[in-house]
Amino acid sequence: MSRIVIVSNRTPGKGPAAGGLAVALRKVLADQEGFWFGWSGKLTDDPSPEARIEDIDGLSVAQIDLTRDDHHAYYAGFSNSILWPSFHLRLDLATIESHWYEGYRRVNAQFARALKPLLKPDDIVWVHDYHLIPLATELRSLGARNRMGFYLHIPFPTADALYAIPHHAELMRDLSRYDLVGMQANRDVAAFTEFADHQAPSTFGATQAAVDIDFSGTEIAAFPIGSDPDAFARLAASPAATKMIHRMRRVLADQRLVLGVDRLDYSKGLPQRVEAYEKLLANNPRLRRTVHMLQVAPPSRDSIKEYQEIGDTLDAMCGRVMGRFAEPDWQPLTYVKRAYGQPSLAGLYRLARVGLVTPLRDGMNLVAHEFVGSQDPQDPGVLVLSRFAGAAEIFPEALQVNPFDTDETAEALRMALDMPLDERRERWGALMAAARRHNVDDWASSFLQRLSPGMASPKTSKRDILYL
Ligand code: F6P
Repeated sequence: MSRIVIVSNRTPGKGPAAGGLAVALRKVLADQEGFWFGWSGKLTDDPSPEARIEDIDGLSVAQIDLTRDDHHAYYAGFSNSILWPSFHLRLDLATIESHWYEGYRRVNAQFARALKPLLKPDDIVWVHDYHLIPLATELRSLGARNRMGFYLHIPFPTADALYAIPHHAELMRDLSRYDLVGMQANRDVAAFTEFADHQAPSTFGATQAAVDIDFSGTEIAAFPIGSDPDAFARLAASPAATKMIHRMRRVLADQRLVLGVDRLDYSKGLPQRVEAYEKLLANNPRLRRTVHMLQVAPPSRDSIKEYQEIGDTLDAMCGRVMGRFAEPDWQPLTYVKRAYGQPSLAGLYRLARVGLVTPLRDGMNLVAHEFVGSQDPQDPGVLVLSRFAGAAEIFPEALQVNPFDTDETAEALRMALDMPLDERRERWGALMAAARRHNVDDWASSFLQRLSPGMASPKTSKRDILYL
């Protein structure tokens, strides 16, 4: 049996794995031989060219260090100040410094040089996310002939946004060096197809040379990621979750909880969400004192100016809502800038009457899946979901909103709060069935089955694009 090699920017740390993705990929490596490769989290002046191999809680992990300058150009620079905003259609928040691209490629080449000596010829290499788009090109230039798959966890941009990215043609050519490219949603595959069908050298800009891209050996398909909803159901009934529920019930009394849980990221639509909540309270005075909004927003990528600014914006907006509606004995919202463990979050999800998941654009959004998994089947909460999250393709029974339209979100919030129990149960039943159908274990195994030689489907056309 082939070994599986998982490559990502961050590697799983010691202790309980934080996210469902890490848990699922650990399971893959528990069932099948292989290892995980990535950045160690350490910055040094003179990193060793060879990876350090460690056993981390039974998982074989190979890691390299990076220099501070390379890491800055690769991670905060090209990945998170150019690719992230552009792929999320926030070109207004992109900062372009041309030397970052060199650092991005340097780090991908460094990954490849350290990984290549560890590879056996029939290893299957599964590369994760936008930090590592050029990795297949770099590995192949060192002679690696392995099957290689790439999974994009974030949305694929529209053609116009893609054209705004420096070196986008090279990046697309890098994607063509993989055997399989997986995306979250059908809309992402469609955007990719649009580019692949219409890309022309003349659109690459005056200073960029034409780049030949041949997707004939690359299969593109949507593999929507999921969670483990039954594990969340168990977690939500665990002692740690129950403790959180009791603590919160003491504070909330009979107010209904409207809950948001997101990294503090401008793609999550947090200012629009607070504005929608403000409109809910303004338009429906009867609801004041009967609801409380809790936004959990752990800081993220805070060396980047745009991430600091979104924190400041949210501070000001929450202050405004407090000033407008708070009473000495009633507080309309709480905003917590710290991370909680999964058991506490599962408790909060279960307690919430409304899960407010309204990103402006998102690859999938696993909070939506985890919220659904954590509900009490007898008294489930309502999911208010952005139609621009990949999860919108999975969860048509959520109350879907345009997150830019805060009137619409405010009205969906009112509907969620007024929704009768029968309708809540019916909608939740359908959501839970969908979350189970799209669980994370099946996601990992379907990607790997498609990628491994025995399971690969025959190539029928020049560019084989599959919609799942
Ligand atoms: O959603 C994309 C993603 O890169 C995830 O893989 C990751 O968990 C999250 O964003 C946080 O990103 P970072 O590693 O930059 O903190």
